[in-house]
Amino acid sequence: MSKKDNTFYVTTPIYYPSDSLHIGHAYTTTAADSITRYKKMQGFDTMFLTGSDEHGQKIERSAKNSNKEPKKYVDEVVKTFKELWKALDIEYDYFIRTTEKRHEQVVQKIFKKLYDKGDIYKDKYEGWYCTPCETFWAERHIGEENLCPDCNRPVEWVEEESYFFEISKYADRLLKHIEDHPEFIQPESRRNEMISFIKQGLDDLSVSRTTFDWGVPVPIDENHVIYVWIDALSNYITAIGYLTDEEMFKKYWPADLHIVGKDILRFHTIIWPIILMALDLELPKKVFGHGWLLSESGKMSKSRGNVVDPIELIDDFGVDSIRYYLLREVPFGTDGTYTTESLIQRINSDLANDLGNLLNRTVSMVEQYFNGSIPEPDELNEVDQDLINTGLQTIENVAKHMDQLKYTHALESLWNFVRRTNKYIDQTEPWILGREEGHQKRLGTVLYNLLESLRLIAIMLKPFMIETPYEIGRQIGDVEQINNAGWTALKWGKLNTNVKVSKAEPIFPRIDIEEYFDKKRKGEQEKTMSKENNINKEKLVDFETFQKLDLRVAEVLEAKKIENSNKLIKLQVSLGEEKRQLVAGIAQDYEEEELINKKIVIVANLKPATIFGVKSNGMILAASDQDKLTLITPEGPIDNGSKVK
Ligand code: ME8
Ligand code: MG
Repeated sequence: MSKKDNTFYVTTPIYYPSDSLHIGHAYTTTAADSITRYKKMQGFDTMFLTGSDEHGQKIERSAKNSNKEPKKYVDEVVKTFKELWKALDIEYDYFIRTTEKRHEQVVQKIFKKLYDKGDIYKDKYEGWYCTPCETFWAERHIGEENLCPDCNRPVEWVEEESYFFEISKYADRLLKHIEDHPEFIQPESRRNEMISFIKQGLDDLSVSRTTFDWGVPVPIDENHVIYVWIDALSNYITAIGYLTDEEMFKKYWPADLHIVGKDILRFHTIIWPIILMALDLELPKKVFGHGWLLSESGKMSKSRGNVVDPIELIDDFGVDSIRYYLLREVPFGTDGTYTTESLIQRINSDLANDLGNLLNRTVSMVEQYFNGSIPEPDELNEVDQDLINTGLQTIENVAKHMDQLKYTHALESLWNFVRRTNKYIDQTEPWILGREEGHQKRLGTVLYNLLESLRLIAIMLKPFMIETPYEIGRQIGDVEQINNAGWTALKWGKLNTNVKVSKAEPIFPRIDIEEYFDKKRKGEQEKTMSKENNINKEKLVDFETFQKLDLRVAEVLEAKKIENSNKLIKLQVSLGEEKRQLVAGIAQDYEEEELINKKIVIVANLKPATIFGVKSNGMILAASDQDKLTLITPEGPIDNGSKVK
């Protein structure tokens, strides 16, 4: 039995919780969310899966670097994934974690099935490994500098016993499938890349590791853990009940769409289909490998410090602006560059100017001329008909583009209609109709047409934006209808007329670029300052280290400014039996006289130093904030030389 026609199953990659997510991950997930919302509006029973890829050497190392147990570490990072998806209004149906029991058990069963079938054998792996990509590379793939052909980072030599999956056995069948199903790998150019990769010949794939243990154990050999990509790819079937919930599995498998970045297209169009063939399962209908979202300084990476944090953008610009930008700016499939300037430009021109003004002008006029009550339309003329035709054509165009994952084109079509509607205002000149007697009916028709266009626009926006369709609905008195609208609600003439409009603030205020960057810079400065003032929790010292410091109470006997320095003072202090000379940088905050007889705290065992030609034998303790410094003194009377601990 094959899956039902009215279901639509879409997935994102399951991201590595080795770091927090950035705008690139948000890009993929927003695209998946948008197509899901669109399909839902089309009447499909949708299933939208995302999640986290939590095993493997890369994660184990990240956890170690943070001094945490892997499970505790991934728990924390995965929490931030979910927070981001919430902030972006991502409406996934299920979030799979590969550390879930059910997933782990089924992955073991998958391994066992392939083994029982004779597709897996034991041997020794000798070759290169890229841990950031979790990828095996043969000698012939690696250049002289031993860099990963995908990510350009150094690969490591690996020699270990390993189980191998005989993927070469399936290469011909896979090639035939790709050739017979032109829509299987998208876009076209990447499809050709994949075909030539297969034609170069496939090496059997190492599917287990022995040199670390953060992974799913190989069911037949406890010294091995299953290679993380086998574990990860399987998520697409374990999450919908493969071997655990046959009814659900039958309902949704095969997936209609795997959305991935081009970096991992190879895993999804070669290894994954071969696993499925070996399991006698159908292949996904489409794998779309989208392009790269770059920073102005190139590929985003933590180490380069050029990652764009989506949470910060959402805070600054709002969720709909970010979703709109991601889907509108870069055609899905090609690479593009994120810049804050282009984001602000989009907001100002498309959202504030085109859409925001249309709504604002329309609602204002209904208030001004009809006391806020939505008028009934009368006879239509040619200009009206042209507006309506454009609207109806837009509905078709948006759907056509969305069916091909052309988000950018879909939004372009929609904005053509937004602009066409603005032009309609200029053509019909309602302010003249409102001024002169006898045009009440005509004016009512014009405003009705504007409101009805806005209703269509709001509904067509629903796959892309969250708050805006709702807000348009609220302002034109039609929230409920717009919220519940599916694609079939996109017909001319369904506007509620027995309600009132309600005007509000502009939905997208214009952003002044200069002002924005100015504010940002000030914010950054404050952030670094407060960071410096924060106790540094990352660099904890143990008690023994602390105990190495010999801290003592001392009393100042003499104080004298050091010539040619405006900061330094030479102090003679008493430690009880012992007298010391030390140099302190406190001249800007203390006068010589006020220091005499003051009890202070010093580090008595600091290595002696010569400062401005003066010997210093110890260091005083003081606290400082941005503009002043104050000495640390004992709270009550105490003998000189007493130990501070
Ligand atoms: O590869 N531009 O996880 P990952 C666009 N765990 N998309 C980007 C991007 C960018 N600059 N950076 C990341 C893994 N992405 C595996 C996947 S699936 C069974 C296992 C997106 O955390 C893009 O979708 O490295 C890319 O494919 C994915 O994040 C890689 O995420
Ligand atoms: Mg990656």
